Amino acid sequence: MNIRFTIILLLILSVSFQSSLAQNKRKSVDQKVDSLMLLMTLEEKIGQMNQYNDDQSATGPETIDPDKAGQIIRGEVGSLLNCNGTVRTAGWQKVAMQSRLKIPLLFGQDVVHGYKTTFPIPLAEACSWDMEAIELSARIAATEASAGGIHWTFAPMVDIARDPRWGRVMEGAGEDPYLGSLIAAARVKGFQGDQPGEVNSLMACAKHFAAYGAAIGGRDYNSVDMSNRLLWEVYLPPFKAAVDAGVATIMNSFNDLNGIPATGNQYLQREILKGKWNFSGFVVSDWGSVGEMINHGSVADEYEAALSAVTAGCDMDMESRCYKNNLLRLVKENKVPLALIDEAVRRILRKKFELGLFDDPFKYCNPEREQKELNNPAHPAAARKIAARSIVLLKNQDHLLPLDNSYKTIAFIGPLVKAVKQNKGFWDVEVQGVDSGFIVSQWEGLKRRLDAGTNLLYAKGCNIDGNNKDGFDEAIAVAAKSDVVILSIGERRDMSGEAKSRSNICIPGVQEDLLKALLTTGKPVIVLINGGRPMVFDYTAEHANAILYTWWLGSEAGNAIADVLFGDYNPSAKLPISFPRSVGQIPIYYSYFNTGRPATDDSNRFYNSSYNDLSIYPRYEFGFGLSYTSFAYSNLQLSTKKIKAGESLTASVTITNTGKYEGEEIVQLYLKDKVGSIVRPVKELKDFKKISLKPGESKTISFIIGKEKLSFFNQNLEWVTEPGEFSLMIGASSADIRLEDRFELL
Ligand code: NOJ
Repeated sequence: MNIRFTIILLLILSVSFQSSLAQNKRKSVDQKVDSLMLLMTLEEKIGQMNQYNDDQSATGPETIDPDKAGQIIRGEVGSLLNCNGTVRTAGWQKVAMQSRLKIPLLFGQDVVHGYKTTFPIPLAEACSWDMEAIELSARIAATEASAGGIHWTFAPMVDIARDPRWGRVMEGAGEDPYLGSLIAAARVKGFQGDQPGEVNSLMACAKHFAAYGAAIGGRDYNSVDMSNRLLWEVYLPPFKAAVDAGVATIMNSFNDLNGIPATGNQYLQREILKGKWNFSGFVVSDWGSVGEMINHGSVADEYEAALSAVTAGCDMDMESRCYKNNLLRLVKENKVPLALIDEAVRRILRKKFELGLFDDPFKYCNPEREQKELNNPAHPAAARKIAARSIVLLKNQDHLLPLDNSYKTIAFIGPLVKAVKQNKGFWDVEVQGVDSGFIVSQWEGLKRRLDAGTNLLYAKGCNIDGNNKDGFDEAIAVAAKSDVVILSIGERRDMSGEAKSRSNICIPGVQEDLLKALLTTGKPVIVLINGGRPMVFDYTAEHANAILYTWWLGSEAGNAIADVLFGDYNPSAKLPISFPRSVGQIPIYYSYFNTGRPATDDSNRFYNSSYNDLSIYPRYEFGFGLSYTSFAYSNLQLSTKKIKAGESLTASVTITNTGKYEGEEIVQLYLKDKVGSIVRPVKELKDFKKISLKPGESKTISFIIGKEKLSFFNQNLEWVTEPGEFSLMIGASSADIRLEDRFELL
């Protein structure tokens, strides 16, 4: 037997051994669940399906319930949310241990972008297009949160979003299903670790199933009306990717989809999720969404709401109490078969066993580990790196950036310069006992970076909103004394997030007027734009000398911004979402259809799907972002120009760093299927590579294009390829296509 053969044989044996181990483990969990269920009364089973808010904080309209402890002792509650810290979680778990069967509680929380160490908001982090970094941030969040007694995060939010009026655009990965799917999988892996039950991991929850990001008009909680094709092609893929990555739970959604509330939607939950995709975890409702079906008008009362949700496949009721108050009657009146309750409870208990909570209900409540992980210096260090990778350089006139030591006096102006908590953005976690000194303000970060010979001057200039310009004179005077001005403006952190939709997404108040005033000094102005969504900022885009879109960067914001301003990190981030020129362009996305009268010729108004008063193109397109260096693209080669169905081809391209700085480039591959039984978008992102190059260095990279990248959902929702010609485009953004070729699928 030669060595290669032996190695292959050993590999096969080890894979089959591991998979049979996994099967046995699964079997033994199932056996344990079955044995426990034999002991449970119907009331206790239904108890597992209820999740209540703890009183520590609330992320939805609270129900006053003075008898939570009594209900837990009676076995009427399966899970609590918004309860963190080992002391608090251990306290509740002790209460659960007084129940007849001692079934441990699950503790859930929105650990969306960090726990104590706050990472950039998810949309910012998505700008890194760096799956390792994204996975690491989720890993660290899981390590800290699980050390704080939490078992389960309500993240990642994987909703595709193409409307920046929607406040929750900050929580996802942007507009594109391909990038969104990779990020969904990376976040699930990061939160969950290698296998269920690792003490430093959390169960993840992909949300909101489904299509919540397409709320009409960008109004939170609003209806969604879309074709099945769009649902399958754009909105479902990140959920599928999360399921394939082994996500433990899924949250359904507030919105109705084509007239059926997602929470009571059998097609979504039973047919697709639990049926076609064979999802083995459990589904939790969104906060109160079971009861909200009465407002939707799909059910008459809470009894019907519970019936609709449980029949549709919603296993756990977050906060509405419809399950608690109605499931028993529904079973007794033969409206809900016992088998449905058993199925839901089995799914929930399986997770509790997998987490190891029956072996040790206090497994995640170790105060020493909590202290150790919350003070782990590696966590802020990682957050700083990821934050620098999330900052997008939008403009850099005359190579103003990076700054060097020749600037002896720097003015740092604006309402966000000395802000502390603002940097955390929405969906931060209030961790007990952590003071805000942990967050590095922008002022603090810059001060730390400057050498002794540089003067840093400050003026606030104005507030984030309101019309008051009283601070302008002082700001102008400070700018006039300086060599360069850095202006930090934007939204407040609570202007984006849940229930934070806005019809006006311009930079609020008089902040752009402040920029105008500062420019009268003739000093170069670098603008930092802070916010949770793509904003509209025409004046700044046209007149600022340089712009860094910093989003909300988390607890290391100040350090990361200083790293980028001074070139300690050369920005590499690219936008995962289009930035409109005006609200009138929304919804806006790069992968639109060409239409019968494409917007190509401004002179012929009848042949132009466009606006009379504005370009159809965004201010900054999907995939856009500058670097301090420049990159040349050359030598596109296709391994073949014709492939048969099932075959693949390789496209290779050479990238050269033609500038002065070492830097990273995100090289993007787009395809266009020229003719389809269903019209195909003008281009679709199908792959990308992030590479690092020293000045003068070249690298040749290649992309493999096979069936998966050429397929789409046809009229019957079958995932198919169709023969014909494809354009292949390689670019630095969706609009900056540098090289193009064609090939044919026979
Ligand atoms: C409502 C939000 O829609 C959801 O994303 C969140 O997880 C729950 N509240 C719990 O806070």
